Amino acid sequence: MAADPTAATRPESAPAPARVLEAEGLVKRYGEREALRGVSLSAGRGELVTVIGPNGAGKTTLLTILAGIVAPDAGRVSPGPREVGWVPQQPALYGKLTVAENLRLFARLERCSEPEATVERMLALTGLGDRAGDQVVKLSGGNRQRVNIAIGLLGQQSVLLLDEPSASLDPRQRERLWEFVLGLAEAGTAVVLSTHNIQEAERHADRVLVLADGELLFTGSPRRLKEAVGQEGDEGLEEAFVAFLHARGH
Ligand SMILES: Nc1ncnc2c1ncn2[C@@H]1O[C@H](COP(=O)(O)OP(=O)(O)OP(=O)(O)O)[C@@H](O)[C@H]1O
Ligand SMILES: [Mg+2]
Repeated sequence: MAADPTAATRPESAPAPARVLEAEGLVKRYGEREALRGVSLSAGRGELVTVIGPNGAGKTTLLTILAGIVAPDAGRVSPGPREVGWVPQQPALYGKLTVAENLRLFARLERCSEPEATVERMLALTGLGDRAGDQVVKLSGGNRQRVNIAIGLLGQQSVLLLDEPSASLDPRQRERLWEFVLGLAEAGTAVVLSTHNIQEAERHADRVLVLADGELLFTGSPRRLKEAVGQEGDEGLEEAFVAFLHARGH
């Protein structure tokens, strides 16, 4: 059964939230290789969208284009990069600087008008006030990831993009990260994140995008993806995802 590209979001009867991110017909080529083949997507205020797909599907390419870091060969994205926060997979932090010093440095790079107030706001947001004076190298992976996310949020953008934010975290740290990200979404931030953890996509996403070989194969709620492969029992989304990819020749 073909996926319904207009499939609704959370909850499925509710009106769609105001769109704050829109991309249309994104194409990216690396030599002969087409890393993205005309991908379109949107995200609404407070919506949490996960991008899932096999290695090499084009997830990072898509997110870096949405973040304005890589230019597409065709297609358009709105809004521009200044209105979009970006959290790369590898935290780009200075390990020898403290949490507060990192935040201050990036606040200045982002040209925040009041860097000190911004640092305080980010410490409160991340719940890392008591670690402000600690070198980043001494933080756990989860707390480091919080600082990484805080830096993505310095500009107080309405859209936050994260590339595999939970990949290197233990289950407890992953849970804390999700609490944090869900809190942001509840406060109205549109969140688009990639993950290989299908279980967390199922648990937390309003909508999943399935990307394979540069093509957007599905966009809709986890439940709709299960329906698309005729899954009616209580199997997880992972089984549906694998069956879906298989049916589509991947
Ligand atoms: N800078 C680059 N130069 C050449 N090819 C690239 C470059 N970046 C990505 N690619 C290719 O584009 C395709 C998509 O890569 P991308 O990193 O976006 O996939 P991904 O879905 O993020 O994979 P993973 O799950 O492994 O992170 C791959 O075939 C990759 O080899
Ligand atoms: Mg990637």
